[in-house]
Amino acid sequence: MNRPPALITRYRHLLPVTDATPVISLGEGGTPLISLGRLGERYGVRLFAKFEGMNPTGSFKDRGMTLAVSKAVERGAQAVICASTGNTSASAAAYAARAGMRAAVVIPDGKIASGKLAQALAHGARVIAIDGNFDQALTVVRELAESSDIELVNSVNPFRIAGQMTGAFEVCDALGAAPDALCIPVGNAGNITAYWAGFRAYKAAGTVAGVPRMMGFQAAGAAPLVLGHPVAHPETVATAIRIGNPASGPQALAAIAESDGSIAAVTDAQILDAYHLVSRTEGVFCEPASAASLAGFVMRAEAGEFTPGQTVVCVLTGHGLKDPDTAVADVPAIVRIPATTSAIERAVFDG
Ligand code: F0G
Repeated sequence: MNRPPALITRYRHLLPVTDATPVISLGEGGTPLISLGRLGERYGVRLFAKFEGMNPTGSFKDRGMTLAVSKAVERGAQAVICASTGNTSASAAAYAARAGMRAAVVIPDGKIASGKLAQALAHGARVIAIDGNFDQALTVVRELAESSDIELVNSVNPFRIAGQMTGAFEVCDALGAAPDALCIPVGNAGNITAYWAGFRAYKAAGTVAGVPRMMGFQAAGAAPLVLGHPVAHPETVATAIRIGNPASGPQALAAIAESDGSIAAVTDAQILDAYHLVSRTEGVFCEPASAASLAGFVMRAEAGEFTPGQTVVCVLTGHGLKDPDTAVADVPAIVRIPATTSAIERAVFDG
């Protein structure tokens, strides 16, 4: 399959790179903007999913990681490190392998979806599991990065945010305009910060006339920005956004205020409903955290928040294959029958 050129090459004029910056790329970006026609029709809007699961490591993190690792190589860093709920570690491990660098990833023990752990291990990263949550892991790696020559590649690294602006650029490129609203899951709050920066940059460059309302959604058991204070023990089925003290919280709240947007919580039940809905009725398989954006859209649409005909984009941040355990947890039973034509024919249409 032909992928578009590296993101750093495509959007060079809008990114903090020079001719001295190496391009460490796996062909990230260029993900599809998929029309969710049935769901959109139900609520009278033009609804799209920006399916970030189609990135090389299966999540939006690759957009920021290509830039963060390229800049780390440029400055001669010896290794990269991150704290992660899973996707950042998978992406950091892959791009570090690509660059021929060592990667270390610090994860909350037992709280990482198995596909993400498999990726970090497969790419040869040093996987360090701590008896603590993401927030504690991030505190430790930030301290370490300050006192060493190891490059921190969490979204507190400004190059991660700069790279992730390209998600907003691509949405506008595909639509020929900015959408009216962008629904996005919020964990450590880097991605909502990056999308907002991207939309503003495109407007400032005169590429589009407007900006969308930024509508962020957190899991109800991990909703510090909704509650207005950190959550000491975050819990949610959406392990990717199981975060109680987001590093970019203030930037996320600014994006919401400046865009006339909103932040709200969705329950695990709402997240799982949206997760099954989009996979079964639209053929798009995302991971649970990603479905928080769609759950939020449904909640807002049912409250009459959108004007008929508006264009709404939900960012589906990661691929469903990342978390196979959740995928098979609540699904129809496998049908076990003898290998005969008639039994199989009956099984196709029964049930
Ligand atoms: N969706 C997915 C699939 C994620 O992996 C993350 C964050 C988010 C949404 C939230 O994005 O943190 O920028 O607000 N995952 C990080 C990680 C924390 O370590 O992989 P955010």
